[in-house]
Amino acid sequence: MEQTFLLVKPDGVKRQLIGNIVNRFEQRGFELIGAKLIRITREQAEYHYEEHKAKPFFGELVDFITSGPVFAMVWQGENIIQISRAMMGKTNPADAAPGTIRGDFASEVAKNVIHGSDSPESALREIANFFKPEELLTSTYLD
Ligand code: CMP
Repeated sequence: MEQTFLLVKPDGVKRQLIGNIVNRFEQRGFELIGAKLIRITREQAEYHYEEHKAKPFFGELVDFITSGPVFAMVWQGENIIQISRAMMGKTNPADAAPGTIRGDFASEVAKNVIHGSDSPESALREIANFFKPEELLTSTYLD
């Protein structure tokens, strides 16, 4: 069973989109195995976005993600990484299709409502940055 890390960013929390986003993943049949509303530290943010360290927008990215509460989640299901990326839509909302989360709710690349892991390796790393093993369910409740 594949797992992924999803994060409703401060813009999504402020706009009260948590319920809508959780609902989409539940309706798709995925299983929520951990969740928390938190204010993330600069250290966590810098580690989370390490691959973007050299980008000109890195500072802005870290400032934004630490600017308010975020809703961090771990979900599981068959092919969840690929499917959740399709559900989120393209990173730049200008390219995100209507019907996707970003296509329905976002209009700027910096404030694109949600982050999701892009590979099994990123998922493992991102989950470990935000959750202790004991904060996650180990068995499925959907069976
Ligand atoms: P995310 O999936 O969280 O991963 C990296 C983030 O960088 C991405 O979503 C965007 O929100 C953000 N990003 C990408 N390009 C830019 C940019 N040009 N300016 C500001 N933020 C950006």
